[in-house]
Amino acid sequence: MLVTAQPVLRRFWYPTLPIADLDAGPQPFTLLGQDLVLWADKKGRPAAAVDRCSHRFARLSKGWVKDGAVNCPYHGWAFNSSGRCVEVPQAPGQRIPHGYKVTAFRCEKRYGYAWVCLDEPLDVIPELPEAADPRFRVMHLDSELFHCSSTVGVDNALDSSHHHYVHGTTLGDSSSPLPMAVQDLRETANGLFMSFPLRNNGSTLRDRDIDDRATSGPITLIRQLTWYVPFTVRIDIKFPSGIQAVTLLTYTPISDSTCQYVGVLARNDTERDFSAKAAIAEIATIVKEDKDVLECVDYDLPLHAAQQRHMASDKASLMMRRKLHDLLTAHGETEVTRTGPGGTP
Ligand code: FES
Ligand SMILES: [Fe+2]
Repeated sequence: MLVTAQPVLRRFWYPTLPIADLDAGPQPFTLLGQDLVLWADKKGRPAAAVDRCSHRFARLSKGWVKDGAVNCPYHGWAFNSSGRCVEVPQAPGQRIPHGYKVTAFRCEKRYGYAWVCLDEPLDVIPELPEAADPRFRVMHLDSELFHCSSTVGVDNALDSSHHHYVHGTTLGDSSSPLPMAVQDLRETANGLFMSFPLRNNGSTLRDRDIDDRATSGPITLIRQLTWYVPFTVRIDIKFPSGIQAVTLLTYTPISDSTCQYVGVLARNDTERDFSAKAAIAEIATIVKEDKDVLECVDYDLPLHAAQQRHMASDKASLMMRRKLHDLLTAHGETEVTRTGPGGTP
């Protein structure tokens, strides 16, 4: 599936840049092939519009923000968060025609990021209740450009059998390729839920931050994964010590073959137990392991199961393909692949 060729994907929310990045002025971001300018209005609320001035099509992200409006670097026209042109410095005091506007998009601040939806939303921004729970602290993971599609990213998150290969010394157990059985796998209203234990042998997870009582031998991590159509997943890891680490991550689609890994981590321990810097670095190590392999996977993931070969542990991946296929069908679309519309059934 080529994500930029499926308009229904424009109807979901995606995290883009950290809000803090907007302190430096307007910033560019590309979402589903759409070049955007993001900036903060007078009240610090994020705004998003096409990164193309209506005058001579200069990039607004190269400009500056004044009084909450983004100013074009070329002749200084200013646009507010609705996209309306509110100032033409060359024609002071004159009425500005409505048609001078640029297209603006829905943009919301959540978990410290600017979330953008390019069309009428089909769903809300995925919830992360821990972000408002005083027992948890919330951290931003390092955002990362992945040279793979968002679908390949989500497919990897739902894959319970790669850990012993890709994360053999961090999350998994390189001494055995056998995944533990998935305990629970079911559809939800807007995605999937699955729970699968992970045998963790000899990693820093066990030794350092998770369970001081487990000093030798493998432990079993219970991983619960919730997928929100189309490209967000929540991963709950429960450790034997009672510590919980919740990650809400999105493979924000930039183009057909690239995505931005954007993640928020909530943990119910303290900075003294495990510093935020170390917790973020630990996940970055695991993310790098995924990135290295995902960037060698064909970005055009087919939704039709018959196009690839599968094994028992791929059940969630297949359910994901079916859900995305049904989403397209429900909105009158067919899958578009590199070979054209329709995909090969
Ligand atoms: S190109 Fe933007 S003001 Fe002229
Ligand atoms: Fe992984």
